[in-house]
Amino acid sequence: MDYVYAPGKNHLFVPGPVNIPEPVLRAMNRNNEDYRSPAIPAMTKTLLEDVKKIFKSTAGTTFLIPTTGTGAWESALTNTLSPGDRIVSFLIGQFSLLWIDQQQRLNFNVDVVESDWGQGANLDVLESKLASDGAHTIKAICIVHNETATGVTNDLSKVRFLLDKYKHPALLLVDGVSSICALDFRMDEWGVDVALTGSQKALSLPTGIGIICASPKALEASKTSKSVKVFFDWKDYLKFYKLGTYWPYTPSIQLLYGLRAALDLLFEEGLDNVIARHSRLGKATRLAVEAWGLKNCTQKEEWFSDTVTAVLVPSYIDSSEIVRRAWKRYNLSLGLGLNKVAGKVFRIGHLGNLNELQLLGCLAGVEMILKDVGYPVKLGSGVAAASAYLQNNIPLIPSRI
Ligand SMILES: Cc1ncc(COP(=O)(O)O)c(C=O)c1O
Repeated sequence: MDYVYAPGKNHLFVPGPVNIPEPVLRAMNRNNEDYRSPAIPAMTKTLLEDVKKIFKSTAGTTFLIPTTGTGAWESALTNTLSPGDRIVSFLIGQFSLLWIDQQQRLNFNVDVVESDWGQGANLDVLESKLASDGAHTIKAICIVHNETATGVTNDLSKVRFLLDKYKHPALLLVDGVSSICALDFRMDEWGVDVALTGSQKALSLPTGIGIICASPKALEASKTSKSVKVFFDWKDYLKFYKLGTYWPYTPSIQLLYGLRAALDLLFEEGLDNVIARHSRLGKATRLAVEAWGLKNCTQKEEWFSDTVTAVLVPSYIDSSEIVRRAWKRYNLSLGLGLNKVAGKVFRIGHLGNLNELQLLGCLAGVEMILKDVGYPVKLGSGVAAASAYLQNNIPLIPSRI
């Protein structure tokens, strides 16, 4: 169906792409420019430095590649590994499944550690694999920090703890697509070797930039990696960094200005305040789900995600109907259940440039839809639970104190 007008704003609550703030939209509304003029390299230089902050890294090298999260995955793998290398990879939902599929199609030897959808990465299995790998055949651990399909956040510090415990040199490659800029992420402290995200997630930009941070160890590995790569080859970028021109091929000028504006907004709010805001949004959503008498797809509190909540519906309801109806009747966009959990869950994305009152609007909409599809919800119950919590916890807006 073509785009169809509806009055008012679309309530965009899918877990990416997310709402783009007005100052970012305005910053991108501009003509093309010569990317070989002195201005674009100068801006790129500061972007590459500033973007390190969202990873909490000072030691890393960053790349802004015209691609999506999937391309950023490919760049992380092909620059650091060689075909046949053994990778331990956790399958916990649709996005980790897709990454594993990519790893297999790129001819790595993937040792898949599977969990029920709704559970986190099985770190006991990782521990036994590391303990029995004295020969260091495992070259990399691949883990999705926040599985967007099920709303599960993995504890990366525990993965680092295990690698250190067994003095294992495997690289730690992390998909931070639905976590970075929203959840606590500490690249250097957790010894992450490659971390990546996509611009359309918590950075609240249009899709189109794969943002990658590589540790010194990952850069060293890239010197000997034998995987075929052309478009994603970090060497081309590094060559142009040295020359001071920065771009091996044409960047999107508009997206670069958008990224500048998005980072300025993030730094103005303060990254830690941004993370705290996401923690409130996540908690408020979970309180509403509980008040509705519904279950979170995420099976344990330790894995609850503050960027997306996957809500399980009773078996007599098709969750896809909830998503369809939300859009058709209330101009509310919710996330579908994917693959194994299709029809069983709908997802509320609460990440990016979003505030608490917007979330309450979404929760009110979900209540009406639940009633529409025959679920006996008390209208206002979720909103009451969420707003009671928020009213006690929302601080003054940092820039208005
Ligand atoms: C955790 C995660 N990884 C990777 C991807 C793939 O990103 P893209 O669709 O930008 O290629 C997504 C997309 O939603 C995601 O949520």
